Amino acid sequence: MARAYNREGFGRLLRYGELLNGNNDGLMGRVARAAFDDFREDEVDDLYTFLMTLRPPGEAASSPN
Ligand code: HEM
Repeated sequence: MARAYNREGFGRLLRYGELLNGNNDGLMGRVARAAFDDFREDEVDDLYTFLMTLRPPGEAASSPN
């Protein structure tokens, strides 16, 4: 999921619910704008860094790039 997003796209997704296809009127959009739009840049950085350390079940874990 988050792997499809680069850092900039992830920030827009998380804070404004804007998907890669530009859509932002789904549930993710409403939740993000209501609850996540005051995340600071460094907080989005931390979440992004963390999520990128995760691997789908079955794949070997690896250290953060
Ligand atoms: C840290 C919190 C969250 C992260 C990192 C996150 C991340 C994502 C990602 C990566 C997608 C896929 C977007 C795509 O298909 O391109 C997505 C979609 C979605 N998320 Fe979240 N999400 C979060 C919180 C939530 C919450 C709290 C809700 C609902 C209560 C929610 C509801 C949805 C829905 C319904 C979609 C499908 C697209 C839409 O209908 O807007 N998400 N989210």
